[in-house]
Amino acid sequence: MFASFLQDPDFIRVCYIVAFALFIIGLGGLTGPRTAVRGNRIAAVGMAIAIGATLLTEGMGNWGLIILGIVIGTVIGVPAALKVRMTAMPQMVALFNGVGGGAIALISWAEFRSSDGFEGVATHVVIASLFAAIVGSVSFWGSNIAFAKLQELISGRPVVLPAQQAINIALLAVAIGFSVAIASGTSSEWVFIGVLVAAALLGNFVVLPIGGADMPVVISLLNAFTGLSAAAAGIALDNTALIVAGMIVGASGSILTNLMAQAMNRSIPSIVAGGFGGGGAVAGAGDGVQRTARSTSAADAAVQMAYASSVMIVPGYGMAVAQAQHAVRELTVELEKRGVEVNFAIHPVAGRMPGHMNVLLAEADVPYEQLKEMEQANPLFPRTDVSLVIGANDVTNPAANDDPSSPIYGMPILEVDKSKSVIVLKRSMSSGFAGIDNPLFYADNTAMLFGDAKASVQEIVAELSEL
Ligand code: TAP
Repeated sequence: MFASFLQDPDFIRVCYIVAFALFIIGLGGLTGPRTAVRGNRIAAVGMAIAIGATLLTEGMGNWGLIILGIVIGTVIGVPAALKVRMTAMPQMVALFNGVGGGAIALISWAEFRSSDGFEGVATHVVIASLFAAIVGSVSFWGSNIAFAKLQELISGRPVVLPAQQAINIALLAVAIGFSVAIASGTSSEWVFIGVLVAAALLGNFVVLPIGGADMPVVISLLNAFTGLSAAAAGIALDNTALIVAGMIVGASGSILTNLMAQAMNRSIPSIVAGGFGGGGAVAGAGDGVQRTARSTSAADAAVQMAYASSVMIVPGYGMAVAQAQHAVRELTVELEKRGVEVNFAIHPVAGRMPGHMNVLLAEADVPYEQLKEMEQANPLFPRTDVSLVIGANDVTNPAANDDPSSPIYGMPILEVDKSKSVIVLKRSMSSGFAGIDNPLFYADNTAMLFGDAKASVQEIVAELSEL
């Protein structure tokens, strides 16, 4: 009696609806650092309910394999999530996302086999299964390449084959052509394997030409692909949970990809076309004019900030590399003791992943109230005494506003150059991710403090405590 109630399709549907509500509430929580952890937990409870409800479905066979799968997933997933360093988060997301795509492609293959080559299966289900096979396979292989680049198992530089675009179009044509053959009645398993192989090569060839530092955007795009393939698999399996969860991932991944691309003033096709942000290149401003930058010392920087009434800290990728966030928090406390108002200006694509700076500063217990988003921070710069740029470069580059020939022209920036004085902490005059010179470093009101960001901030704190 109780067992038949639990297996009642209506009960399972109700569980799914509860799970969907929790997914959406959880996702809402991810919009701010204060509610993100709770949002994550709520969505995880939703996922547990969805998995539990699916396992209740009548005819759910082979418990041995199901338990084995859950055990393997838990043994690998939990320690990996506990151990991962914040800076390795993008590659972990890539790896887990890839596994999702691979699972979807395998489900589609299993459906093909269990129905003897989609024999007697409705056309819309066949199309959804083939879509899931192609997109899932692209996502699996593309995510693996993204992982390998970020983990430095292969070079992060763009790897472009001759006639790359033509090869990619040919591979897509092969995958679609074989799929059309299957949808029209071919039941040969080799043709299905051909679809998977063409999509696998496509996944590799699409991601290989993209520079390592563009990977967060690509991972978000592949994440959206995995979501869409999961939704298609949900149509094939007639499983509402998979359709809804897949669409939520597809939609949120697409929105995130778009927001990142906009904040970098790049189009998604130009990112996928690759060749930008391979890292390391130092290009001049292109006008051939020799300019000099003024350097300063930790002692002078300490004096300048101690007697300021407002300091705006502008963190960037270099703060993450140097792991300077705790030292930065100490500096904040020291300055506040002296009555200096301290705020942080956060650019949406500072660092190398969405929310990178927020996560680091939260780790160092910097109060959220001090974090100002770009729109809030920019009007504050003209009345800021000292802007302290810590390992940020492109997100402060005034060429994005004033130089139409700059590759980042039009990218919204933190208008640090409008503040009364600027101190930039970095190791050298090297460029940032975009590989271009930054006129901010040569401005009359800017002084450079060369060195590792953590060491420089610690020196400033030491000097402040001597004052
Ligand atoms: P970047 O422009 O990349 O500049 C970082 C600077 O940090 C470098 O110029 C480097 O100069 C300095 N640096 C590195 N290690 C350092 C250390 N140990 N101590 C001190 N300084 C150090 O960083 P940003 O201003 O944060 O801009 C982010 C860039 O990444 C943007 O172009 C953005 O479009 C791109 N991007 C962002 C994302 C996301 S989602 N955030 C995704 C993909 C790409 P030195 O070598 O001279 O020290």
